[in-house]
Amino acid sequence: MTPPSRQPARRRTAGLRREAVLATVPVAVAALLATAGPAAAGTTGAAGAGDPYFPLSGNGGYHVGHYDLTLRYDTTSRQLDGKAVLTARASHRLTRFDLDLNGLKVTSVTVDRGAAAFRRTGQELVVTPRHALRAGREFRVAVAYHGTPKPVTDPDGSADGWIPTDDGAFVAGEPQGAMTWFPANGHPKDKSTYDFTITVPKGRTAVANGVLLGRHTAHGRTTFRWRETQPMAAYLATATVGDFKVERYTTPDGVQVYNAVDPREARAAAPVLKKLPSVLAWESKLFGPYPFRAAGAIVDHAPDVGYALETQTRPVYDSAPDTGTLVHESAHQWFGDSVSLTAWKDIWLNEGFATYAEWLYAEQHGGDSAQMTFDALYARPAGDELWAYPAGDPGNGGNIFGTPVYARGAMTLHELRRAVGDRDFFRILRAWATGHRGGHGTTAEFVRLAERQSGKRLDGLFHTWLYTKGKPDKV
Ligand code: TRP
Ligand code: ZN
Repeated sequence: MTPPSRQPARRRTAGLRREAVLATVPVAVAALLATAGPAAAGTTGAAGAGDPYFPLSGNGGYHVGHYDLTLRYDTTSRQLDGKAVLTARASHRLTRFDLDLNGLKVTSVTVDRGAAAFRRTGQELVVTPRHALRAGREFRVAVAYHGTPKPVTDPDGSADGWIPTDDGAFVAGEPQGAMTWFPANGHPKDKSTYDFTITVPKGRTAVANGVLLGRHTAHGRTTFRWRETQPMAAYLATATVGDFKVERYTTPDGVQVYNAVDPREARAAAPVLKKLPSVLAWESKLFGPYPFRAAGAIVDHAPDVGYALETQTRPVYDSAPDTGTLVHESAHQWFGDSVSLTAWKDIWLNEGFATYAEWLYAEQHGGDSAQMTFDALYARPAGDELWAYPAGDPGNGGNIFGTPVYARGAMTLHELRRAVGDRDFFRILRAWATGHRGGHGTTAEFVRLAERQSGKRLDGLFHTWLYTKGKPDKV
């Protein structure tokens, strides 16, 4: 049901990328050098959140509690007009701070309604408020901007961010694309609530995260208002625009479902989307209560994208998904969205878990057992890409969506399950999702939790499966 050979390749179109390796690095290094010096002074916000894989993603010195994004997108000219109002709190005294913003023209920045000075350097929007911000102080930054958004090219050659399509835009920001359409503290360490007000030409639909508060049409344009009340990492925000057929209903658990489907994908998507409530119910039984109030799917027709993304509450698919992909992106709602990373190095906590959810789904729905899937993978020769680098230490940002992260990450969970038994294994998964709900988790915390729940020493197992180079020996 879930042939192992297809595991990671499904999430990314083979062959598309790889050429543009390191394309973004010179810019990144230049910007880092430009701001690193003064940041050491102590009253400025750092230009990055300290993630070695993406040194300029996120920023230091403040936390964003809420984003209020007002966007207007012209699907013909591909022009975006935006206003972002961020409510933030200074973590220390700030004479200056950064936001991530790539491309686009900024026309004004205010801090607490007073005009603020700003400059652009690489992907950093450097803001100097008229008065220094006291430590602990809440402040409001408003940024007006416009332009033609362009996706970023990631170190693995894939594109993310605002990706234009023939009828709108496919908007998916993992790992660093949020900055292509709004000024952000763009690292998953920082989670925030969101309001979206998105205006598009009449006939097009704009779909964001959370619940739809309302829509109205005037003068040939329709405005959609969306709200996500649960904390969300910037990369999980979407504002996907297109010609969509919309379906809405509420599940027996009271979750509001909103599906938006490109008519070209409707026939293939229908039988899979029909399973969404049962998939979420099955995952809720396994992982604990569904962490959000809204759910759904955005099924776009975006043949150049090559992957789906687990945008919070409402994953975005580049084409009609198969059941495995639906299960995968749904599982991310617990693992990756509700429980977030603190460093991209830990990406197996997202992808290994979502992949293992697929194995479990197959096992419990008449397909291969997880053991069979594991065995088929383990049979791959030592030279296979599966063993190219350790799942828990992919080495750099170009490797975070590779086969070892997905497949060997899932194999790690399977080895944990074999070591502790089903009862403890499923208790561990549930305790992880519920204990870190709406927050963050690290690999070290997961290992500790697994040891605590099982009463077993597991550091050897995790070391072997997550951190050793090459194909691990059979235990
Ligand atoms: N997290 C996505 C998934 O597993 C995959 C993904 C997001 C991705 N962005 C990407 C894959 C960029 C390759 C390149 O469903
Ligand atoms: Zn995934």
